[in-house]
Parts: sequence; structure tokens; C-alpha cells
Amino acid sequence: MNIAIIGTGSVGQAIAGKLSSLGHAVKVGTRDIAATLAKTAPDAMGAPAYAMWAKGHPKVSLGTFAEAAKFGELVINAASGMGSIAALQSCGSANLAGKILIDISNPLDFSQGMPPFLSIVNTDSLGEQIQKAFPQVKVVKTLNVVSAPVMIDPSCVPGGQPSMFVSGNDATAKTAVSKFLKDWFGWADVMDRGDITTARGSEMVLALWVRTWGVVQTPIFGFKVVR
Ligand SMILES: NC(=O)c1ccc[n+]([C@@H]2O[C@H](COP(=O)([O-])OP(=O)(O)OC[C@H]3O[C@@H](n4cnc5c(N)ncnc54)[C@H](OP(=O)(O)O)[C@@H]3O)[C@@H](O)[C@H]2O)c1
Repeated sequence: MNIAIIGTGSVGQAIAGKLSSLGHAVKVGTRDIAATLAKTAPDAMGAPAYAMWAKGHPKVSLGTFAEAAKFGELVINAASGMGSIAALQSCGSANLAGKILIDISNPLDFSQGMPPFLSIVNTDSLGEQIQKAFPQVKVVKTLNVVSAPVMIDPSCVPGGQPSMFVSGNDATAKTAVSKFLKDWFGWADVMDRGDITTARGSEMVLALWVRTWGVVQTPIFGFKVVR
């Protein structure tokens, strides 16, 4: 499958690398190709500069947000929370229309330092704002409640796999994404939470996630719904 990843950070790199290793054709999107390739420092999450990462992943191509979105039969949003709407606008509505958009973003605002606060919360969510801004796109919110290494390998959590949530208005899209999660990454416990408004709960998990990270001192953890 041709897959677009909107975002060059640790999430974009992890998902792109995994999907490429599975034989998918992957194009990563960025605002400015030359500026992204010129970066030499790792990002705040420790992801290597894109050009260094790309050397080990020669089959993954890099393009503008619009080039990536046009290329992808499936589009994955791994842009920063504060930049997601702008990034998707740069993709161009026509390049997104009718496609499934897996939305991994979290509306985290780091402007006041750590821990970040949620810029959209309680009565709204970034997932809903994306769905409203792009009504012809089938938005499925998922994977945002774990760190990038856990997204692509939930069995790497020593205490056992966490639960994963999917939220979205299109039942067929959620079924397809749930199968992708199982087949590509090995997720065993995928819970359909309901329509896109249920992304509020998944995004608010981040208030718990960042503070738990501070206690356990590793991003390799998750939350399990024990029934
Ligand atoms: N890191 C994790 O483990 C983790 C876990 C769960 C969820 N998430 C969520 O996944 C998303 C990606 O996280 P990340 O850590 O990989 O990277 P990030 O630093 O949050 O985002 C990097 C990407 O956002 C784009 N971006 C930043 N500001 C922008 C703006 N104003 N307009 C358009 N695009 C903009 C960057 O574009 P350029 O390529 O042009 O620089 C880059 O591609 C975030 O929403 C984050 O909350 C992350």
C-alpha cells in the first residue's frame, strides 16, 4: 500500500520505518524538504535528525506535506498537536478527500514548560477539530496514548501489552484501522470507543501519561483496561 506519513519526528520515523520494513511504499511529509534535511540535532524526544535517520531507511521517500498526501492511499498524521491543522491544510483537501486519516497527534502545548497542558480539552478534541476541518476525510484517532516505540511494538512493554483505543465516525474505517493495528504492529487489545468525540478521552489520557512518565522514567509503558 502507498502510505503517507505527515510528520518527521520520532512518531513519523517509527511508523515510516516499520511500514517500510513490512514492504509498504512510504512517503514522509514535511514543511520544507531542504530545511528538514539540513537539520543535524536530535529532537526533544531524542529522535535523530531526519537525514541521519533516512540513511538507514533508503526506501522511505521525503516530500512536502502535499506530495506525501497525494501519494498516500492511507494518510497518517504525525505532526505536532499545535501544527496539525496547518500541516493538514498544507496537504490540500483534495489530496486527503475520501481517504482514511489515522490521527496520532495530541494537542500538547509546551509553551509553559513541562509538563505540557492540553490546548483543546473536555468539550472538544484535536481529533474532532481535524474531522470538522476535513469533512471528506475518515479520521480515526488511535496510537496517541503510547510512545512511538510502543506504537509499533506493543509487546516491548515488559509487563504486557497495553490496551489501544480507536475513535471515529466511520465504522468501516475503524474496522480497517483496527486490522492494521493488529496485522502491522501486533496490537492484541484494540477497543472501539465510539465516534470521534470519544477522542476527548484518549487525548486527556496524556495528562496522566506525561506524569506517569515522570515517575517510571521510561516511555516504554501503557495503560491496560482490565475487565
Ligand atoms: N513522540 C511520541 O512518542 C508521541 C507519542 C504519542 C503521540 N505523539 C504525538 O504525535 C505527534 C508527533 O510527535 P513527534 O514527537 O513525532 O513530533 P513533533 O515534534 O510533535 O512534531 C513534528 C512534526 O510536526 C511538524 N510541525 C511542527 N510545527 C508545525 C507547524 N506549525 N505547522 C505544520 N507542521 C508543523 C513538523 O514539521 P517539519 O517536518 O516541517 O519540521 C514535524 O514534521 C504529536 O502530535 C505528538 O503529540 C507523540
